[in-house]
Amino acid sequence: MAAAMDVDAGAGAGAWSPSSWTSKPIKQDVVYDDAEGVKAALEKLQKLPPLVTTQEVNNLKKSLKNVALGKAFVLQGGDCAELFDYCNQDMIEAKVKLLLQMSLVLIWGANKPVVRIARIAGQFAKPRSSPMEIINGVEMPSFRGDNINGFDANPSSRRPDPSRLVSAYFHSAATLNYLRASLSSGLADLHSPLDWGLGHVITPSIREKYTKIVNRVKDALRFMHTVGIDTDRGVETVDVYTSHEGLLLEYEQSLTRLLKNPFPRPSNPFSTPLSAPPLPQPTPSTPQKSYYATSSHFLWIGDRTRQLNGAHIEFFRGLANPIGIKIGPSMTPQELTTLLDIVNPTHEIGKVTLISRYGASKIATYLPAHIAAVQASGHVPVWQCDPMHGNTQSTPAGIKTRHFGDILSELKQALEIHRACGSFLGGMHLELTGEAVTECVGGAGGLTEEGLGERYTTFCDPRLNEKQALELAFLVAGFYRELDETLEGEAI
Ligand code: PEP
Ligand code: CO
Repeated sequence: MAAAMDVDAGAGAGAWSPSSWTSKPIKQDVVYDDAEGVKAALEKLQKLPPLVTTQEVNNLKKSLKNVALGKAFVLQGGDCAELFDYCNQDMIEAKVKLLLQMSLVLIWGANKPVVRIARIAGQFAKPRSSPMEIINGVEMPSFRGDNINGFDANPSSRRPDPSRLVSAYFHSAATLNYLRASLSSGLADLHSPLDWGLGHVITPSIREKYTKIVNRVKDALRFMHTVGIDTDRGVETVDVYTSHEGLLLEYEQSLTRLLKNPFPRPSNPFSTPLSAPPLPQPTPSTPQKSYYATSSHFLWIGDRTRQLNGAHIEFFRGLANPIGIKIGPSMTPQELTTLLDIVNPTHEIGKVTLISRYGASKIATYLPAHIAAVQASGHVPVWQCDPMHGNTQSTPAGIKTRHFGDILSELKQALEIHRACGSFLGGMHLELTGEAVTECVGGAGGLTEEGLGERYTTFCDPRLNEKQALELAFLVAGFYRELDETLEGEAI
């Protein structure tokens, strides 16, 4: 709803406020026909408590700083579009267990702590290539995510409904509540990773590899017990942070609060290496306050809304949270460094995660120049590879899918290109689900295009199913092991 204004207004210049984005041109805007309803919804949101605390956000920021410095790896994943209906025990548990299993495999492979960020508890708004679509001969607004309109293919369900803004908050709150409760009740207890439900669909070879890793972890825990150092709460629980695309700025603004920077508590050893440098501490006599987006720990800007003079960049530049920026082939190296200067003028290490998504056939053309420009600029971001969004294609039957081989290839190339450029890949960003869906083809399960119809349930992009996601984690872990062998000349 921002005014479409002068594109020449100085990007990143001038005073910032949570509403300063409204004076900038905006992409993917939502036009409501119920101004009173919007006002009521936003007023309600402004009164509701934050969904996350500054303490949690700062802990994530500290962990991402370690990722940027090469001391940790970040695994981010979840649905392309989360629906309000996904807010149920089974689906939340399945997704979190899958991320935990994958992170265990990656800890073993990369030999680093893994920071886990789920696309969960708020991934309800989607950018669309066209605002309208024709279904069965009837033209209607495209589905923009549960925060905006309904999926049902009729014009009244597709009408943007402001009461969904408040529903999004409460579905996020319920999801987050169960996530926090189950983690603190031992869902992630490293003493029993086999209870994380590998599922009946897992192939014997993956189960065997996973069991080997689990046995190594168990040996380590037994050793820790023997020498009396297993009392730390770190082996019983882990941190799982939340994230979503910060697309709907009215919603994000209403949940952005001026809050005190808390004194950061040390987090557990599974999310932060022991050698982590301490964050600068605010002195008690001068409590610092910053603007925090409190809808989620981590927000990212999509590839379609990252215009230098645009509303999204304006909003994001004032946030204290760690943020992500998607970068694809249309980003020029110059634009990239200008963007970093705007959203991170103090060059805070790890504040920005650059989420590259070029496609397997394009990454080699674009990534090296982006890395070189960032290196020359002096910024130290987290480099994360999203091997999903540049690899979407349609089958001859018109079904949107992604090939496991392309996903793996983009990840492998990202790892190698970073190494060759004196940089390193800090993490991966995946669209996945804990359900046994049939949306991406390939992988050890051998899903073919003909099999896609069996359980194709995504409301947006095709996701890796649990088997494909875990297999990918093993393969990426294997790349790290191979690279280490090559570097150190020793067998693992
Ligand atoms: C997404 O992550 O779901 C998405 C829309 O990505 P991108 O902005 O990279 O296209
Ligand atoms: Co997507």
